[in-house]
Amino acid sequence: MTSPHLQLVQLARPSTKPKVMVELTVDGKSVSVPEGSTILNACQALGIDIPTLCWLETLKPVNVCRVCVVEVEGARVLVPSCSRTVEPGMKVKTRNKRVDLTRKLVLEMLASSVDLSTTPGMSDMLAEYDAKPERFGECETVAQPVKVDNNLYIRDYAKCILCYKCVEACGDDHQNTFAIAVAGRGFDAHISTEFAVDLPTSACVYCGNCIAVCPTGALMSKREWDMREAGEWDESIQTSTDTVCPFCGVGCTLTLHVQDGEIVKATSPLDHDITVGNLCIKGRFGWRHVQTGQSAEQMSADRANQSTSL
Ligand code: SF4
Ligand code: SF4
Ligand code: FES
Repeated sequence: MTSPHLQLVQLARPSTKPKVMVELTVDGKSVSVPEGSTILNACQALGIDIPTLCWLETLKPVNVCRVCVVEVEGARVLVPSCSRTVEPGMKVKTRNKRVDLTRKLVLEMLASSVDLSTTPGMSDMLAEYDAKPERFGECETVAQPVKVDNNLYIRDYAKCILCYKCVEACGDDHQNTFAIAVAGRGFDAHISTEFAVDLPTSACVYCGNCIAVCPTGALMSKREWDMREAGEWDESIQTSTDTVCPFCGVGCTLTLHVQDGEIVKATSPLDHDITVGNLCIKGRFGWRHVQTGQSAEQMSADRANQSTSL
């Protein structure tokens, strides 16, 4: 019998097995990708652009938005490229009338029922597929007030496309906190905390990992939301700088987004080995002390007052 210690050593060793490669054709071009890759991976290897909304490289694919569909020769229906794995000899078409029409309809239905005004790249996507959401009229079912129940982030579910990314990030893909989930069925399906309690009463630990993956801005840091409300948010003049989070020994990489000399957002790179885009409350939100707008004298007076009142 193998000893547990030896088993651990074997598990820790990188596999020396050669990767099995799968060859397929995408838009007439041959490509070879490791077994288990998705059609989307093959398209990315060829530099072919595929629109995605519910997919992210750091999350398990849930394939719910269907904007990434492609045609596979011999398949009865279009397939979601983000989750369909490649097979040897597969022949894929990423653009034709059928694919384009499906993407157009998906975009039109989403844009007629949800506010996509803060979804990056959405206006280009709508133009590319000649999508006319007004054909479907305006759907009132998702219109609702923004939830502002804490000082760190807001939830604007009028912008939610039910992509499940936040649920995955808060759940077993990353955070394992399970503070949010999909509640209701059919037209009533929506993202909610347990028993729809507000965030401070929920299991949320304010890591903000859900904000980091939300593709539409339905989840947004309070600072960004306040600045947008005041007409001050301007990504075109923002710079970003990578640094190391000073709060603990893990040393997560922080990307600080700066506008007009002030930090306005903190993220972490998706391709970072340790964080895979995630942070904790301190890294995500704990930078406000850098620019309180107070003088050093005022800050030390505040600290003295705080310590005497404890
Ligand atoms: S902030 Fe973190 S814990 Fe709270 S809902 Fe988002 S992912 Fe879950
Ligand atoms: S809140 Fe954002 S991440 Fe969560 S399901 Fe809605 S759109 Fe997706
Ligand atoms: S990106 Fe593939 S189904 Fe949403």
